[in-house]
Amino acid sequence: DRPLTFLGIESSCDDSAAAILRDGPAAGRVLASVVRGQGALHAAFGGVVPEIAARAHAEVLDHCVEAALARAGVGLGDLDGIAVTAGPGLIGGVLAGVMTAKGLAAATGLPLWGVNHLAGHALTPRLTDDLAFPYLLLLVSGGHCQFLVVEGPDRFRRLGGTIDDAPGEAFDKVARILGLPQPGGPEVEREAATGNPRRIPLPRPLLDREGCDLSFSGLKTAVLRARDSLMSAHDGIMSGHDEIKSGQQTRVPSAHLSGHSDGQLSGQSGLRESDRRDLCAAFQAAVADILAEKTRRALALYRDAAPLRPAFAVAGGVAANAAIRSRLQAVCAAESVEFVAPPLALCTDNAAMIAWAALERARAGLGPDAAISARPRWPL
Ligand code: KG4
Ligand code: ZN
Repeated sequence: DRPLTFLGIESSCDDSAAAILRDGPAAGRVLASVVRGQGALHAAFGGVVPEIAARAHAEVLDHCVEAALARAGVGLGDLDGIAVTAGPGLIGGVLAGVMTAKGLAAATGLPLWGVNHLAGHALTPRLTDDLAFPYLLLLVSGGHCQFLVVEGPDRFRRLGGTIDDAPGEAFDKVARILGLPQPGGPEVEREAATGNPRRIPLPRPLLDREGCDLSFSGLKTAVLRARDSLMSAHDGIMSGHDEIKSGQQTRVPSAHLSGHSDGQLSGQSGLRESDRRDLCAAFQAAVADILAEKTRRALALYRDAAPLRPAFAVAGGVAANAAIRSRLQAVCAAESVEFVAPPLALCTDNAAMIAWAALERARAGLGPDAAISARPRWPL
């Protein structure tokens, strides 16, 4: 009964990742976590291009696995199982991961777990903290935003979620609107740090509605309008931007990356540095307000199930935002709820969370999975 050692593989978006986990005390479980981002490959397109992502995953996943094994000082013979993201995500990337994992499993005879990417994010707080089920989770990433009561390794109860964009997607679009590079979240956060969050008023969509559903698309559109009126107020130089006045023609960049040029969107020359910082600060404050208020409501719903020691955890890429984290922490402090946030590197996409989700299931006697197929859509 030596502790289980798992290999994890993740490739559902634009990060190729492999990790080695060994069960034991929470602090030391991650033996190695290798993440290769593809940012540079997609930079020219203003977003992730699925075909390019898939090919890049297929090329580098083997290297990621080798690097993770080497860094952990572990051989294939030391492994007890292989975990791979089987969805949801970009199908080409998910397929590349599943093929890599199946190849390794066939070569070694190791059992294989197909992991839901969202379950990976949702269980991450238990990887590095001694956190008991059930806890309330806010999953906030580039593709997702939902409140889940996490009741077990494969038991999730959804309390609410976004009705349109995910917050990370909104951060990325706002960055594009303001001429900042991708991924936008960290860029907007950096700009916001020195901006005035109260100068430019922005809406807080859906706060007037009951429950804990959220909406971010109107907020992003409001940023676009604010940018345009700031630019036209600035001086007459930006006469090319008369779309501002005829609201209909305002162009919102699409989430997916048709390869259009960002030049006309960024309009950096027309937007003052200080305006950009204030817009970033106003946007981030609006997102934080929305998440804080909805978290308060989700906590009330979750506490009806009356766990003895209520706990709230946050996961996903947007949880890397320090301003948002501290707002959520303050909400929990006011409600006497324990607040748990995984280390930043485990908030954004990684393979340790995938190996962990499988390890959790293995410990509970769930799996391995006899047949794994790649699923682009796979709600929890
Ligand atoms: O979880 P993740 O790595 O991938 C998904 O599964 O979506 O999240 C990536 C998202 C991106 O939209 C990125 O802009 C956002 O998380 N993000 C941030 C920050 N760091 C990453 N958003 C706000 N502030 C940050 N510091
Ligand atoms: Zn993710």
